[in-house]
Amino acid sequence: MKFMKIAVAAALAMAFGQAQALHDGGVAHCDACHTMHNSGPGGGEGTNATAPRMTNRALPVGETNPWLLQGTDPSSTCLNCHGDTSPSSYHVLDTTTPGTISPTTLNYAPGGDFAWLATGERKGHNILAVDFGLGPDSRPTPPGQTAYTGGGFSCVSCHDPHGQNRYTGTGDAMARVGGGAIVGGGSTDSGVVAGEVRGAYRLLGGLGWTPKSSGNFAGFPVGTLPPIAVAPATYNKSEGSFDITATGITGQVVVGYVSGMSEFCGTCHGAMHTNAVDGASGSMLRHPSGNDAQMGDVQANYNAYLRTGDMTGAAGQTYDALVPFELQTTRADAVTRSSLTTETTNIQASASTTVMCLSCHRAHASAFDSMLRWDYAKTFVIGTYSDGVSGSGTAAQRAAYYLRPASQEYGQYQRSLCNKCHAKD
Ligand code: HEC
Ligand code: HEC
Ligand code: HEC
Ligand code: HEC
Ligand code: HEC
Ligand code: HEC
Repeated sequence: MKFMKIAVAAALAMAFGQAQALHDGGVAHCDACHTMHNSGPGGGEGTNATAPRMTNRALPVGETNPWLLQGTDPSSTCLNCHGDTSPSSYHVLDTTTPGTISPTTLNYAPGGDFAWLATGERKGHNILAVDFGLGPDSRPTPPGQTAYTGGGFSCVSCHDPHGQNRYTGTGDAMARVGGGAIVGGGSTDSGVVAGEVRGAYRLLGGLGWTPKSSGNFAGFPVGTLPPIAVAPATYNKSEGSFDITATGITGQVVVGYVSGMSEFCGTCHGAMHTNAVDGASGSMLRHPSGNDAQMGDVQANYNAYLRTGDMTGAAGQTYDALVPFELQTTRADAVTRSSLTTETTNIQASASTTVMCLSCHRAHASAFDSMLRWDYAKTFVIGTYSDGVSGSGTAAQRAAYYLRPASQEYGQYQRSLCNKCHAKD
């Protein structure tokens, strides 16, 4: 029943998402986020369709929020549409039970649901969204960076609200200004015609992006191109049909990551980013992560590894979306390899595919400290997880793995997924 509800909600959400395309890969109509005079009510978007244009603060007509935003701050403005009580294609905050987790209504998009922050500030990026009760981290400076206090840390510290970065030409060259009119979003491959100009993956801020609300941060303007990746059109859904067999891993949402993600994260976490596997074994002083952090010999482990104690997989059939890597090829190659609609994939590790920050972390939040993708603090990572049969907290644990039947597929004695690459188990 639970699955039915989620499936129906997801289907409705998709229909809704398509009917309500808003950004279309670039800057949406200004009225979606701004109000010039707090006039109204009505005429706005989303929750503002019937309410006064300026949400959550009863200021008189004529007076608005900073940057003439509809929400009290930039993130609250985004969450007017991106926060909701039901999972839906583009929702990133479940607002059902603020302050705690509601396992049946969480979003399962690749970035992770900010609602996990209710279980502790270590679970993710603590963006400021006053209207939604989200406040700063007690340690607001990004680890690995000293110049940025985290003041004004918000959705638009990472996403360009005006979506100006764009793919041009073959789909890999990027431009910020010029380069032609954006015809639509570039995050999926649907309907893409060669040579068309499309918005950057997830409207991420790239080369030249300086959020005015993020204070005096030396890392801005962003100095690298936005990451290149391509995701399926339906990306926010349960992985309840996840299945590991010797002939393929199925039932997972596969994003084809191509390049640049670690460089993007490095904007704010400079000391965590490495361009290469910098040194021989024993002389590396931080975990490789970047466009040149090649998998080298560990690719053979990745391709053979199915679960603890089982190395019988075949290359091209063992891509586990919980431990992704970057292809370092082209956007077109990622589209071809990740059969984005059927959820089968021939993404295959090779000596030149690379480790990235998102091999281990999520981008928004997760159930685990340091917003890691799996439970790094347990020897047996599935722990007390029992596939929803009984036990307090079980539903939340299932949700932590996006409802994968993990104890069946990996097994109760599955050890850390670091082993997907290192096979030390
Ligand atoms: C998806 C939400 C969204 C939409 C749509 C949007 N904006 Fe903004 N805008 C913001 C946010 C958030 C900020 C504060 C950003 C920052 O920190 O720089 C902002 C800031 C601005 C600023 C001041 C800072 C600057 O960069 O100059 C201007 C001017 C602006 N927007 C104009 C527009 C115009 C014109 C449109 C319509 C063509 C538009 N915006 C559409 C969210 C939006
Ligand atoms: C008026 C409602 C509304 C507001 C406000 C809004 N969004 Fe969206 N957003 C949507 C919808 C609808 C979609 C899905 C369709 C689309 O991509 O246009 C979406 C999609 C997205 C995506 C995925 C785009 C892709 O390439 O797949 C990102 C990223 C995003 N929004 C970021 C933001 C940020 C950041 C803000 C605040 C600055 C914001 N949105 C404000 C409605 C909104
Ligand atoms: C630290 C940077 C960062 C912040 C802050 C951030 N995002 Fe994201 N967001 C990303 C990245 C990176 C992705 C792509 C994740 C992936 O594909 O694995 C993403 C993905 C998304 C998506 C696509 C769905 C998904 O989860 O993959 C939406 C929608 C979105 N973000 C909206 C938002 C909104 C709204 C906020 C603020 C409430 C926000 N983001 C804050 C970096 C960020
Ligand atoms: C615009 C700046 C910015 C970008 C870009 C950014 N981060 Fe962060 N990050 C921060 C700030 C600020 C903090 C500290 C506040 C917090 O933890 O909420 C932080 C904290 C973290 C933490 C520690 C969370 C905790 O509390 O344990 C991790 C892990 C992390 N970031 C990973 C990433 C990854 C992975 C990316 C790329 C997808 C990324 N960051 C991109 C600003 C950024
Ligand atoms: C996507 C693949 C991948 C994942 C996942 C991964 N690693 Fe690595 N790791 C590498 C690569 C590639 C290197 C550098 C080359 C090598 O060691 O062969 C490396 C290097 C290391 C080293 C240094 C080895 C040396 O010889 O100096 C350690 C220790 C390590 N990883 C631990 C971990 C831990 C712990 C995790 C889980 C949190 C993890 N790795 C997850 C790919 C990965
Ligand atoms: C091989 C897996 C792996 C990769 C790749 C990786 N991390 Fe981490 N990261 C971890 C683990 C595990 C932790 C937990 C603490 C530790 O062991 O250092 C962590 C902790 C962090 C923290 C929190 C540090 C603190 O002081 O609390 C930040 C920030 C962070 N990582 C950012 C990044 C960024 C940015 C990248 C990419 C440039 C990245 N990580 C790549 C596994 C990884």
